[in-house]
Amino acid sequence: MGEDAVIQDTLMGFSSGVQQNETSRSGGLAQAIERHAGTVRGHKRPLTSGSTPLPLSDDGMPLLSVSDSRVSFSEMVLSRDNHEILLELVHEHERRDLLAAHGLRPRRRLLLAGPSGTGKTQTAEALAHALGVPLARVRLAAVVSSYLGQTARHIEKILEFTKRGTWVLSFDEIDMLTSDRNGSDNDEIRRVVTVILQELETYSSDNLVVATTNHGELLDAALWRRFDEILTYKYPTQEQISTLLKLKLRRAKRLKLNREQGARALQGLSHAQVEAVCLDALRRNVLRGDEYLTTADIVECANSRRKRLKEAGQGEK
Ligand SMILES: Nc1ncnc2c1ncn2[C@@H]1O[C@H](COP(=O)(O)OP(=O)(O)O)[C@@H](O)[C@H]1O
Ligand SMILES: [Mg+2]
Repeated sequence: MGEDAVIQDTLMGFSSGVQQNETSRSGGLAQAIERHAGTVRGHKRPLTSGSTPLPLSDDGMPLLSVSDSRVSFSEMVLSRDNHEILLELVHEHERRDLLAAHGLRPRRRLLLAGPSGTGKTQTAEALAHALGVPLARVRLAAVVSSYLGQTARHIEKILEFTKRGTWVLSFDEIDMLTSDRNGSDNDEIRRVVTVILQELETYSSDNLVVATTNHGELLDAALWRRFDEILTYKYPTQEQISTLLKLKLRRAKRLKLNREQGARALQGLSHAQVEAVCLDALRRNVLRGDEYLTTADIVECANSRRKRLKEAGQGEK
């Protein structure tokens, strides 16, 4: 029953998203479909819609979840290199017809590697948003079985399904790809990633496939090289933290902030942790009824979050 509920939820979420967005100002899925249907690329391409059931595993579990994405790259702080490559990729996919006319295809297999909280998952969402297509997330727990043949069959089903429409297909945290769920069996991860890459070799679709991992170092370089592009994510630099402060404190009514000083207090934290500190400071500011959110608020919230992270055994990198 639970499994059916998940499928229903996903499908209803998908189709009701269309209805909702027909009247919404901010675009979303309806806009994505509209763009997808031709206004951007100049001709009609049918989108696989909510009326088509999502592919299921041999045990009846949905292998994908599909959602509309609202995150844009303008809300992210990325290294210059990564930003450039991502923009190039978006451009290649927007102009895939032009490339095809010259016998070329866009880069399709992307790997994002780096520590937790640096924006890998969000990048897959922002790519879908930038391309105006839905994000199809592979549900790894349903895909991976203790039989490699069954895992391969599941991946085949996913690729068969997704090639009928345009999406960004994401394999998030592929280092969790083991049937023992401990994420500890490197050989098994390698075997499953190899199966995915093999299946992708014959994937006729131009859909962008984004895999992410928090543990790139666990897997060998030879395997990674089979992706078209590898982007490395790192903890933010001082300058990037300063930009994050600007971005994440946008909602503050009044700021008295020396960003340089604030950024120093946040050094060594991930993007996600910097965001958490900003949210701590914003909440505190509202609840205390303070007129200004100040540098001291950021420093205090940073110190207390750092302390909690340390106590939880999650020191900074
Ligand atoms: N580079 C970034 N720029 C802006 N915000 C970020 C960035 N990285 C992470 N965040 C914030 O932290 C949250 C979690 O990031 P996520 O993409 O899940 O990281 P990862 O997948 O690398 O663990 C995001 O939803 C976003 O709010
Ligand atoms: Mg992630």
